[in-house]
Amino acid sequence: MCGIIGYTGPRKALPLLLQGLHLLEYRGYDSAGIALATEGSLRVFKKEGKLENLEAVLPASSAAKSGIGHTRWATHGVVSDKNAHPHLGSKGRVAVAHNGILDNWAEIRKELESEGVEFTSETDSEVIAQLVERELETRKPTEAVIAALKRISGTYGIAVAFADKPGLIIGARNGSPLAIGIGDGEAFLASDPSAFASHTRKAVFLQDGDIAVLQAKSWEIRNLRGELSDREAETLPARTAEGDKGIHPDFFLKETFEQPQAVARALGNGGRLVKDLGTAKLGGLDMSPRDIQGIREIVFVAMGTALHAALIGARIVEAWARIPSRAEDASELRSANPIVNKDTLYVAVSQSGETADTLAAVREIQMKGGRTIGIVNGVGSTLARLCGSGIYVHAGPEHSVAATKSWSAQIVCSALLALAVGRSRYLSLGDGRRVVEELEALPGKIEQALALKSRVDDLARRWSRSTSTLFLGRGVLYPAALEGALKLKEISYVHAEGFAGGALKHGPLALVSPEVPTFALLADGETFDRTLSNMSEVRARKGPVVAVTNRDDPRLADAADEVLVVPPSLEVLAPVLESIPLQLYARAVASELGRDVDRPRNLAKSVTTE
Ligand code: G6P
Repeated sequence: MCGIIGYTGPRKALPLLLQGLHLLEYRGYDSAGIALATEGSLRVFKKEGKLENLEAVLPASSAAKSGIGHTRWATHGVVSDKNAHPHLGSKGRVAVAHNGILDNWAEIRKELESEGVEFTSETDSEVIAQLVERELETRKPTEAVIAALKRISGTYGIAVAFADKPGLIIGARNGSPLAIGIGDGEAFLASDPSAFASHTRKAVFLQDGDIAVLQAKSWEIRNLRGELSDREAETLPARTAEGDKGIHPDFFLKETFEQPQAVARALGNGGRLVKDLGTAKLGGLDMSPRDIQGIREIVFVAMGTALHAALIGARIVEAWARIPSRAEDASELRSANPIVNKDTLYVAVSQSGETADTLAAVREIQMKGGRTIGIVNGVGSTLARLCGSGIYVHAGPEHSVAATKSWSAQIVCSALLALAVGRSRYLSLGDGRRVVEELEALPGKIEQALALKSRVDDLARRWSRSTSTLFLGRGVLYPAALEGALKLKEISYVHAEGFAGGALKHGPLALVSPEVPTFALLADGETFDRTLSNMSEVRARKGPVVAVTNRDDPRLADAADEVLVVPPSLEVLAPVLESIPLQLYARAVASELGRDVDRPRNLAKSVTTE
């Protein structure tokens, strides 16, 4: 987590750094800070809380032409002004912004304190500033940074600014993403290239062990031995015009309403579907039909909403391809010493492509010789590079911390994979064509589901003060119930629990009361009647029930207080449509309760620390 930005060039640095911080705020918003370098001095401004707080203490303008900035998601040290980055060395010669976690900071701090260095924060990161400053006594800036990095272990992306070399910014990466942007006579450094993409599309993505030495008109990359590394700049894809909220009050709602387009793009606007063969064409998969036929199992790995999408993906694979499939929590898998089979295809699912646990799981699998592909939204992200092949989600940039459009587009990409694998095995031409038709129709059906908004808003007004909210579903709708609960708790802070319909009587029923609404997800198919029974069981205990269904069955009126009907679809695609009212409900409750919908407390969009 945490976002880093750096600039050096002929322009005033302050507005550029601030703009970068706004674009990086999704990475954390516990505090923010900026260090401006002018001849002989570094001026640091930092403030606890969201960026508005920092803006209130920044000077109206500054002549500084270079500087660094940071937006924090706290790990070591409470959320406070003094723990905000950038950190200054005790002599004020060096400022450092850090993203990552250091392992041996405590012993280094003790050593430096015994030498008389005075620390001002409780963070692990400050030791980097103090170490670099100590090394600067005897070395030039680049050598000083290298010497400091050789002392530390842990993960880092850092930006370093120097009082005596105001035009110089040094970056370094080990485990936390960092890219440099090369402009015309100016250079940028950022955790995510979107922070500088409006100024330059020429970028170099740093690799672990890289040290980037930036000046306005020159850049170079060295390794930890100080040797020059040869790196080509690449051109970032053209930016999409999705950077503002448009008519919507927040990104969450905007992105919820963008799902028809996001899903259409995930389908390659039709280009990923082969109608006559009833299959999917996935250029990025880099697998021959023979490779695909050799797959004996598909294991998805992911975190958060992506994990819920992956759980659905695994069920779709089993339904269409008839090969065993499961989804694993990446953080659990990587520490469980996984048994990796060579005939298993591992699919890492991630919006950002930067989630630390997902990356660690992929590295563990690759180290054991496993084959990995990505279903990734972040083009050029660490995960996309690590996997080398896969399916880009193409949902477009997602700004709201809580995922919406990436979720439906990830499910669709998993379905495309299941279709391609299925057609090379047991799925008939007729069934394949039916799937293609259903996928093509999905964007239009999402559009119809979005029309439920005003009814959902009414429900939120009625139940926003509930102490808890329950979500139940069976089969493919069980992960959708988990996602419904996650969305609600993430952005409204209302306690919510998702569970399988079959589990109701094994505990959750004890939570049912007139104050606790239950959302029951039903789809036309084998489990419909059993979920209907669950609803009656809840109602018999005076629990209010909202049915979300793709089949308008007359029995629902008796078993539910409210029935929200989405268009009919294949059962396995129902989670995409039935999640729409659940996303709208979470958003409506959050806004009833006055929450910051796009930036929920304590969370960050990209969880880049394990
Ligand atoms: C965070 C975000 C979630 C997201 C999860 C996984 O928790 O708030 O919205 O689902 O990380 O992120 P990824 O980028 O890997 O999909």
